[in-house]
Amino acid sequence: MSLLEVHDLAVSYDGRRALHGVSLSVEPGEVVAVVGGSGSGKSTTAHALIGLLPANATLDAGRILFGENDLAGWSQHRLRAVRGSQIGLVPQDPANSLDPVKSIGAQLGEVLRIHGERDRRTIRTRVLDLLARVGLPDPETRARQYPHELSGGMRQRVLIAAAIALRPRLIIADEPTSALDVTVQRRVLDLIDDLRAEYGTAVLLVTHDLGVAAVRSDRVVVMRTAAWSSGARRPRSWPRPGSTTRSGCWTTRPPCRRGPSGSPVKGGPPSWCATWSRSSASGGARSARWTARPSR
Ligand SMILES: Nc1ncnc2c1ncn2[C@@H]1O[C@H](COP(=O)(O)OP(=O)(O)OP(=O)(O)O)[C@@H](O)[C@H]1O
Ligand SMILES: [Mg+2]
Repeated sequence: MSLLEVHDLAVSYDGRRALHGVSLSVEPGEVVAVVGGSGSGKSTTAHALIGLLPANATLDAGRILFGENDLAGWSQHRLRAVRGSQIGLVPQDPANSLDPVKSIGAQLGEVLRIHGERDRRTIRTRVLDLLARVGLPDPETRARQYPHELSGGMRQRVLIAAAIALRPRLIIADEPTSALDVTVQRRVLDLIDDLRAEYGTAVLLVTHDLGVAAVRSDRVVVMRTAAWSSGARRPRSWPRPGSTTRSGCWTTRPPCRRGPSGSPVKGGPPSWCATWSRSSASGGARSARWTARPSR
């Protein structure tokens, strides 16, 4: 049974449809990448899955099956019990996702307290463990500091620490590395890989970077503006050859590692393997034409 199954999700903002027909699944321990251009609805999907849509949004249709439960019909009260403990979110914007007037230690401690941990000493020990676990040097000092005293990469790690604090079964990481330089990006992605290996956590990795998706995920779901191509292991799930995207994100050629039988190697790049290339006849950057074909 899948850990998460989303069927035909539709969301509107102020009555205007932002996404529809979104379907995807995540197996236990699997990393599924969600790729797509800016505005295609990746964050909206991520937030809808855990009931964190803003007040002007409505979930118009769809089922969000998490284990045996359909979260789509759940109240905020019930969803609060799932958030953090079962599904962790690493939000897209590290600069605005931490409370500026609370220390890092207090914010991480709050996550543990909300979910029932009462002993102050245990909370402190666990907070320091978490900060060490995400590779922050000198956890004692970091715990005392405020968000503005940390670099972007450090704040991103704190958000990952908050997401893994309760060892959820699924982490939704919304562009966890978009604001980071290449070296820190790699470290954060390595950290997510390690956590998955260590705890068997499944990851829904939202990214606009096909290279990251290719190397870091088992499967890729392609999202296009206000429409959705369902994630699958077969190249035919990709947009048709010659289809256009207005975003410039399809520049990467995902490598395809295959075993002696020709089947994709487990643990290697995603098994859908497709090559995207830019047509020489394409127009300007805003309406570039990209073509997809399966890799050999
Ligand atoms: N709070 C909001 N109110 C109104 N419209 C919104 C709101 N948030 C998002 N939208 C709209 O919904 C659509 C999807 O936005 P979303 O943020 O989910 O895209 P995204 O794929 O995450 O983009 P990005 O890659 O830039 O993060 C966009 O058209 C956006 O303008
Ligand atoms: Mg987004």
